[in-house]
Amino acid sequence: MKQKMKNFYFLLFLEMLILLSGCSLYNNNDKSANTIRIGVALYTQDDTFISSIIQNLEKIAHQTENEDLKINITIMDGKFNQTKQMEQIDQLIRRGCNFLCVNIVDRTAASVLIDKAKEADIPVIFFNRQPVSEDIERWEKAYYVGSKAEEGGKLQGQIVLDAWLNNKNIYDKNNDNIIQYVMLEGEPSHQDTLLRTEYSVKTLTDNDIVVEKLASDNANWSKSQAVNKTSEWIKQFNNSIEVAFANNDDMALGAIDAFIDAGLDVPLIVGVDAIDDAIKSIKNGKLYGTVKNDAYGVADTMLNLILSLYNDEKIDLKLKDGHYLWLPYEIITIKNA
Ligand code: GAL
Ligand code: CA
Repeated sequence: MKQKMKNFYFLLFLEMLILLSGCSLYNNNDKSANTIRIGVALYTQDDTFISSIIQNLEKIAHQTENEDLKINITIMDGKFNQTKQMEQIDQLIRRGCNFLCVNIVDRTAASVLIDKAKEADIPVIFFNRQPVSEDIERWEKAYYVGSKAEEGGKLQGQIVLDAWLNNKNIYDKNNDNIIQYVMLEGEPSHQDTLLRTEYSVKTLTDNDIVVEKLASDNANWSKSQAVNKTSEWIKQFNNSIEVAFANNDDMALGAIDAFIDAGLDVPLIVGVDAIDDAIKSIKNGKLYGTVKNDAYGVADTMLNLILSLYNDEKIDLKLKDGHYLWLPYEIITIKNA
């Protein structure tokens, strides 16, 4: 055979191998092995908490596999772009995925996506970015796995409340019995931004603590954006910030860096997620506390849901309102870090 021909057949062979893995176009009707094909669409791959969910998902899927059951996971990065993510969903459906796990870019855009899944009869599990209930209710095979955003906010407020009540002499820098605070917020209109922001502060005011908001702004879950915002605020308020709430840990860690860069003591700062760096920071006495957002739990719950649906054991599912699987948040401070 001429070399050119050989190369051609070799490439063809490679192509076939690629197509046979993941959600492939050609193995739709392959009944020989029991393979579950999961298509995962992410709002971005560049997010600490989301990466941790995906690592857990791949690990647990691998542990679940056996001779009779294979699990293929195909991951698509939406790169913050809803239009791009819709194309990726189309691709995953065309490639024959049995299940979709969607971390939707724009949570108000879920209805179109659910209609696509419904038309193809592929169950769709949203996670972490919660669609509005009217959308989820469009189809009985649309689900949401996550934690209740307002509970995260309440627990964050609880951490600050306890610290303030026990050590007001340390945290009330100007001795006016009022908490001067700043709020680093996630993406606008994300449920975790809106509700964590609201309920963290409400927990304090409900307990008769007087608060004064010095400043708040979106830092979009990003550490570097949080460093910039906090540095501006430090200049503006001359070391009078007593508490910094951050809607997540990456931003809380950014705030800590800003105080250290400014040569100041780190005030009372709280985050959400309990990512590894946050736990380290708590142990180093920098971050005061965080609220654990259960990355493992999200991955494990999605996989269990998929397995139940795959085995047609829907009766066993403890779905709330027919669509929801809720995971609890948990307070983490130096006491249990
Ligand atoms: C939140 C989490 C953030 C970020 C965001 C993405 O639940 O606390 O760190 O990952 O989800 O949707
Ligand atoms: Ca004060």
